[in-house]
Amino acid sequence: MSQTKTTASANTEFPNRVFSGVQPSGAMTLGNYLGAIRNFVRLQDEMDCIYCVVDLHAVTVWQDPAELANQTREITAAYLASGIDPKRSIIFNQSMVSAHAELGWLFSCVARMGWMSRMTQFKDKAGKNREQVSLGLFAYPALMAADILAYQATHVPVGDDQKQHLELTRDIATKFNYDFCGEDQPGYFPITEPIIQGAATRVMSLRDGTKKMSKSDASDMSRINLTDDADAIALKIRKAKTDPLELPGLEALSEDQQGFGDALRAERPEAANLLGIYAALSSRPIADVVGEKAGQPFAAFKKDLTELALAEIGPIGAEMQRLMNDKAAVDAVLADGAERARAIAEPILRGAYDRVGFLKP
Ligand code: TRP
Repeated sequence: MSQTKTTASANTEFPNRVFSGVQPSGAMTLGNYLGAIRNFVRLQDEMDCIYCVVDLHAVTVWQDPAELANQTREITAAYLASGIDPKRSIIFNQSMVSAHAELGWLFSCVARMGWMSRMTQFKDKAGKNREQVSLGLFAYPALMAADILAYQATHVPVGDDQKQHLELTRDIATKFNYDFCGEDQPGYFPITEPIIQGAATRVMSLRDGTKKMSKSDASDMSRINLTDDADAIALKIRKAKTDPLELPGLEALSEDQQGFGDALRAERPEAANLLGIYAALSSRPIADVVGEKAGQPFAAFKKDLTELALAEIGPIGAEMQRLMNDKAAVDAVLADGAERARAIAEPILRGAYDRVGFLKP
């Protein structure tokens, strides 16, 4: 999967553009907010941004139709309540713009079976159930490449777990450019750069510090949902798993004071997780927080953490609740975003069709 062509990799001919997406496959968690959405908000100051609710991706596994519609509105409400500005940025849901599915098909014909078979997320999700999962779950990374490249996006903020899919996106762009643009022509698709979110914002389950905080975990106590009320947030932090020791001091950190290295996460995953959440919520370096809280009992620290969480995400949850009671307003944002998204993606799709040799309508 090496790059065979480098002329497009400088991205000089493509204006900076951010694309990212969140799946409407469950409630929004604190992990989604700290790991992704908060970053989406900041990026608006640097580039044009397109933020998608990827409903086509969600149906790679079963979704109850009524729930899916609700969750699509909930993610949209989370985007808005967190500070994504629907005037400056484009917010829409994927299924409203048919270019995603169409380019996704083309990319299914560009990507090789060997590349797709190496996707670790598919292997994890399918597990022993390989014969029974949907074909869409296998093809999913080609659709993700289409999401990004339908806008010729140059930058994608992604978590650790999506790095391999972004590599595949780069490979698909490289092969398309090589196959359809000729050796010395500029590439049609950019070689998209990841914007990797730091390890400090890796938010783990409150019940098991070695597992990612996930909207699909069976236990609701494992996560803080953005729409949880104050009592629920306080309860979940109070009950969060800890270890019998007091909070660690600076000696527990590795050289790399920005993160935990692997040491503290490996030895005391729950302590590392709660400290990491505190640092992320207060936008402070981990070393700062560890230094301040060293030697405290968990009970006292959890009180501070609760207060901080309520101050930082309480208002977001309240605004989300308000928006979810105003479906018409949320739907209007999505309709307007879809129209603007289509205006960008349609001509890019037509250009790709043209290069492939499809006749025009
Ligand atoms: N695969 C991403 C996830 O599960 C969601 C996603 C779909 C996405 N299309 C994307 C993320 C394009 C970034 C860019 O989290």
